[in-house]
Amino acid sequence: MTLLADPFTEIAVKPFPDQKPGTSGLRKKVARFQEPHYIETFVQAIFDTVPALKGGRLVLGGDGRYLNAEALQIILRMAAANGVRDILIGRDGILSTPAASHLIRLRGADAGIILSASHNPGGPGGDFGIKLNMENGGPASETVTRRLFERTRSLTSYKTLHHSDLDLSCPGQVKIGPARVEIVDPVADYADLMATQFDFEAIRRYAASGAGVVFDAMNAVTGPYAKEIFEQRLGFPEGTVWNGEPLTDFGGCHPDPTPVHAKALLEFMTSSDGPAFGAASDGDGDRNLVFGRGGPVSPSDSLALLTEHAHLVPAFRNGLTGVARSMPTSSAVDRVAEALELSVHETPTGWKFFGNLLDAGLVGLCGEESAGTGGAHIREKDGLWAVLFWLNILAVTGQTVEALLKAHWSRFGRTFYVRHDYEDLDQSLAQETIDHLAASVKRYAGVSLGGLQVKTADVFEYQDPVAGEVSKNQGLRFQFRNSERLILRLSGTGTSGATLRIYMERHETAAKTFGAPVATVLAPLRRAYKDLLALEDLFGRSKPDAVV
Ligand code: G6P
Ligand code: ZN
Repeated sequence: MTLLADPFTEIAVKPFPDQKPGTSGLRKKVARFQEPHYIETFVQAIFDTVPALKGGRLVLGGDGRYLNAEALQIILRMAAANGVRDILIGRDGILSTPAASHLIRLRGADAGIILSASHNPGGPGGDFGIKLNMENGGPASETVTRRLFERTRSLTSYKTLHHSDLDLSCPGQVKIGPARVEIVDPVADYADLMATQFDFEAIRRYAASGAGVVFDAMNAVTGPYAKEIFEQRLGFPEGTVWNGEPLTDFGGCHPDPTPVHAKALLEFMTSSDGPAFGAASDGDGDRNLVFGRGGPVSPSDSLALLTEHAHLVPAFRNGLTGVARSMPTSSAVDRVAEALELSVHETPTGWKFFGNLLDAGLVGLCGEESAGTGGAHIREKDGLWAVLFWLNILAVTGQTVEALLKAHWSRFGRTFYVRHDYEDLDQSLAQETIDHLAASVKRYAGVSLGGLQVKTADVFEYQDPVAGEVSKNQGLRFQFRNSERLILRLSGTGTSGATLRIYMERHETAAKTFGAPVATVLAPLRRAYKDLLALEDLFGRSKPDAVV
């Protein structure tokens, strides 16, 4: 019961059964989040799972997508009612995921709540998401995530208070109930951090030399960051940043930096008057894809090449301890690490698995095939950081993207790589299919698939070397006799049906093969997975929905 004079209130709720976070937070259709008490129930579970927030500090912000503004006001009220002492929030509720991670670390916050469904489309018919980050600035661990999910299943009420919406349009201090709210410039601290990581002088000279550069912010959160960093601080001409105004529905586009969704950029980069370098980032600014005149650089190759040249940038002036990649990411970086005598850690998919390795100083550079690259400066992958890393290398070597890649392949060989996605499959059938294969996977050793001999086959399992946590069932691995590798796993970020991801790679050392079409080189692996899975019979699918 609430007394009229009392601004605090406790609302009874029935738990929702579907608030299990996936690879990166709770992600659902906007309509689901709009159901009465849906946001509140999940957010209350966060406050109950992170007791340090009581009397503590919270960072709050999002990528500006549809529902961002309303959800932030709900969370502000609930934070105050749950005893959070102070809240740092980006102006207009905006914070890119990397900027939020940095702010948590910079200001010693106890946790952060980031509103985003990353690269998924936005708008009323699109997706929304809520992510929890911890005091190291990184996504909550599997253990915390499990506890959070359990809490969503058992709670019976949430706490809020009666308060009007806060005006978040001007930096400064305000109060909500007993809590202090500091509205911060979302860009400044992050841009300052970038200047410590890279040689801005060298990049400024590169810009002044007239090197053509384009960055496509895809109508998403990185627009204001990119304009400040590229056009203001580095002196690239106005217009370098495309689609630089964050829109709630991303202009109806899909804010995922893939050649398919960044089509205009791809066309410009490969046209006769294209610039030397192009890049794009996703909805919340943590992904990146870079392009040279010849097209995009595969994220796995990008990680390998950045590792090779890390000594050229200030962020790694004291050397690189080790590198980490998610298991499905290609093994290209392993060969660089071997040559440079660096350790390599192979983790499950999800940036959260890099956190402990970075905290313990075991690695300094991490990457994922899903367009993720990052370092120890924060605990999230970082789109603009990766783009600046590339620009720094281009500036100090004076080489083009193509020349760098060519030299990289001649030294280490080329790891041909592709991912096939089969989307919106029947959830339980897809799960059953994977479970069934997993149960018998060891039997494939020695078997021929698509004309290729399987050397080993297993289910990937990871033990965190720092915390000791074990993560089972992280994908099926098939290693063939001649460097080929095939990986199968179900995506943890989709919001409708199941997405089966199939990753294929093959390492080639003969220079004459480097220009061959990826599909041709990897055709035997495509045949291998068709032998393995009756996709046509089971799901009626004869070809992938996406080739990445
Ligand atoms: C998010 C995570 C990444 C992950 C990616 C793909 O971007 O932050 O760490 O690699 O999703 O995940 P999925 O489970 O859909 O393959
Ligand atoms: Zn993202």
